[in-house]
Formats: sequence, structure tokens, C-alpha cells
Amino acid sequence: MSTKPKILIQFDSDQHPSVFDSVVAIDSGVDQLLPFGSMEAVDVRELVHGAMFTRGGDSLKRTAIFIGGSRVKSAEQILRAVVDCFFGNVRVSVMLDANGANTTASAAVLCLQRHLSVNEITVGVLGATGSVGQRVCRLLSSQGANVRIGSRSLQRATSLASRIQDSGGCGSLTPMTTDGPHNLEQFIQDCDAIIATGAAGVQLLKKEKWQDLSACKVAIDLNAVPPEGIEGIDVTSAGQVTAGKLVYGAIGVGNLKMKIHKRAIATLFESNDHILDLDAVYDIGKKLEEASDF
Ligand SMILES: NC(=O)c1ccc[n+]([C@@H]2O[C@H](COP(=O)([O-])OP(=O)(O)OC[C@H]3O[C@@H](n4cnc5c(N)ncnc54)[C@H](OP(=O)(O)O)[C@@H]3O)[C@@H](O)[C@H]2O)c1
Repeated sequence: MSTKPKILIQFDSDQHPSVFDSVVAIDSGVDQLLPFGSMEAVDVRELVHGAMFTRGGDSLKRTAIFIGGSRVKSAEQILRAVVDCFFGNVRVSVMLDANGANTTASAAVLCLQRHLSVNEITVGVLGATGSVGQRVCRLLSSQGANVRIGSRSLQRATSLASRIQDSGGCGSLTPMTTDGPHNLEQFIQDCDAIIATGAAGVQLLKKEKWQDLSACKVAIDLNAVPPEGIEGIDVTSAGQVTAGKLVYGAIGVGNLKMKIHKRAIATLFESNDHILDLDAVYDIGKKLEEASDF
């Protein structure tokens, strides 16, 4: 068994590679970090070759790549460019978690699943068009939930619904505008669960709008920056009952998100062929949940 140091190459689309991602990597057992900032897809080829061709045999799995940064579309292009460099078994494992989107969306859906089986329930996702919301909708749809895609713009919600449909969503997807009180009321009516994935510091739902909803059993707010995305859900809530509903705030979900992130980094070094994008990251979270009693 190889004892060579575990090296993580950090590709980040931002000028300064994320310190958060670097710290989590080191806390997950990485021995040596090689961070690269301002990365674009066109830059990766030589760097990935450096990872592929230096260590052979069992040692190859001790080098891996993490793709982060705030620009999620750039990160997705970087991932495609990285995978394009590989051939046969000459490859290294790679994970994408730009903007924390894969780990956060997975953690939010898994928190919901602690209480409800998502198959065929109706879940309203507010602020669904961002990088986190899109992934929450994808995961829910792939598991057969009826997903209401909420956006201020019906056109953006509709475009997201078609993209999810094209990539194999199996539950029903209903794009809706949440602009204005009447549309918002229609949107949340009869939802079994509501997940707010709106931008940081933006309040999407007032207390009086959601606390009296009889169908809603679980409400999750991913916004950690005041005011709350769903008014009345404390940021640290982790399954407590508020107004007869089980609620989670951003830090409550963030604990599981952090565990998923660390386990995913550790998984990268188990073999040289992992590609940890949304579904694989979610599966890692699911296994963590199965092994714990929360
Ligand atoms: N807990 C964690 O560990 C963690 C990790 C990552 C992110 N987060 C949080 O998760 C949330 C989602 O992140 P994200 O990066 O996907 O968010 P984002 O892209 O910044 O925003 C998500 C959506 O919010 C809507 N929005 C933006 N400004 C708005 C406004 N002024 N009024 C109403 N709606 C507005 C937009 O949808 P429309 O324009 O289509 O309406 C946007 O697509 C954020 O609150 C973020 O801080 C938490």
C-alpha cells in the first residue's frame, strides 16, 4: 500500500482560491495542497497531465483534484476539461463543489428526508434558479418528488424545469413565479415541504405566510445572512418544531454539509477514478445519514 503524501490540487475560478475549501481539505486528511486561482477550462490540460503522469500504480490515487470557486458555470467547464484529459486508467479522482453547491443541496435534501419520504410529495423550492436551488430541484425530481420551481421570473423557472427534464428528472416539475403576494401564496399552498434557496440576506417568506400552512410539515432555509430567508427559522435550527413544522436553518443544514464535504474529500483518495459531482456527493451524504442517528 502506498504511503506517499495525499496531494489535492485545488482549481478555483476566483483570483484567490477559497480558504474555506483549503481548510476543509486539510481537516479531511490532505497532506499537501496545490491551490490554483483564476482558473479557466483552457488552463487545466498541462496541470492535469502533471497529476496524471507523475505517480503510477497504487500511488496514483494519492493525487486528486478539487474544483471550487464562486463561479459555478466556470467550475462545470473546468470539470469537463479535466475529465477530457483522462484516458483509460490514467486518471485521478476529481470533485466539484463550487460555491458549496453540491454539498449544500445534498445536505438540504437529506435533512428533508429525515422526516419525509420525498417520493410523490410536493416540495416548493424558493429562489430555485441559483446554483444551490437548481441542485436541490434536480435531486428532488430524480427521486420522484413533485417540485415547484420558484423564481421571480417565470421564464427562468421554466428554463430550469426543461433542463432538469432533459437530464432525466422523474417527478413533476412546475415552474412558477413567486413575484407578488398572490403568486407566492399560490406557490406555497399545499406544499408538504418548503426549501428556501434564495440569495444571501434576502427574505423570501414572511412568518405569517408559512406558519399557518396546514400541509407543510418541513421548512428549510439555507440563507445564513440576516434577515432569515424564511422569517422565524433560526439559523441554527436542526429539526426543531416551530409552528408545528420541523425546521432547519443554514447552520443546522451546514453541519451535515460539512460532514459530506469532508467525507467526499477522503473518498477522493480511495481510488483514482472517482468523479464526485452532484449525484455522487449526494450518495456519500446518504451513506453518512444511513450510518448515523443524526
Ligand atoms: N449552509 C451552507 O453551508 C451554504 C452553502 C452555500 C450556500 N448557502 C446559501 O444558500 C443560498 C443559495 O445560494 P446560491 O449561491 O444558489 O444563491 P444565489 O445564486 O445568490 O441566489 C439564488 C436565487 O435567489 C434569487 N434572488 C436573488 N436576489 C433576490 C432578491 N433580491 N429577491 C428575491 N430573490 C432573489 C434568484 O432567483 P430569481 O432571480 O430566479 O428569483 C437567485 O437565482 C444562499 O442564501 C447561500 O448563502 C448556504
